[in-house]
Amino acid sequence: MIKLENVSFSYGGEPALDRVSFEFHKGRCYVVEGPNGCGKSTLFRILLGLNLPDSGQYFFDGEEITARKLRDRAFAMNFHKRIGLVFQDPEVQLFCSSVEDEVMFGPAQLGLSEEEVRERVEKYMHVFGVGKLRKRAPFNLSGGEKRRVALASVLAMEPEVLVLDEPFNGLDDMCRNYITEYLESTKSERLVIISAHERELTERLADVRVKMSPDHRIVE
Ligand SMILES: Nc1ncnc2c1ncn2[C@@H]1O[C@H](COP(=O)(O)OP(=O)(O)O)[C@@H](O)[C@H]1O
Ligand SMILES: [Mg+2]
Repeated sequence: MIKLENVSFSYGGEPALDRVSFEFHKGRCYVVEGPNGCGKSTLFRILLGLNLPDSGQYFFDGEEITARKLRDRAFAMNFHKRIGLVFQDPEVQLFCSSVEDEVMFGPAQLGLSEEEVRERVEKYMHVFGVGKLRKRAPFNLSGGEKRRVALASVLAMEPEVLVLDEPFNGLDDMCRNYITEYLESTKSERLVIISAHERELTERLADVRVKMSPDHRIVE
């Protein structure tokens, strides 16, 4: 589903990914591990097309993701329907005036009927326990609430590829367990890529552990 070939990326000369080659296959859950600053979030931004490799190639479902292709509206729309990211900092992805609108935003772009959109919104607000917050402004929520809204918004699009950057941060144990269970139940029909430090949870989720080193490489 996803293939990286010798992908390197740096921020103004400071390397963040160094010649990363890897394949991610559908139906599996990959847990990406490595110390702070090793490049996990950068890797995820590349997968989403938010950053492009300085060198090397990124293939999604056999097609190379390039700046030129992402400028093509139809291509970009289709690509972004198929892959969703929950950012490490959920704040950067919440922009609607209510929780309900936030969760509706993605599904409303998918060409579903109004009724299907409604159903999605109710389902995912329920799954992530944010139904009671539906009229609240995401901006004013607690960190854990914001993360749950961000998860609901992305999951509601039911993307084939789900990328979660430290999704358990700021959540209590009950919530972490619940989300882990949910991911376990849905991972066989998707490709799930997660960065997380919570050993007990990642042991339940991981089909493949991907280790990154401080020098920005995938080592195992
Ligand atoms: N927007 C940015 N501008 C400059 N440097 C950055 C930026 N984002 C990340 N970096 C740097 O790139 C490296 C990799 O960061 P990151 O991908 O966030 O790692 P991780 O998610 O594994 O903690 C780090 O050295 C970090 O300081
Ligand atoms: Mg990170």
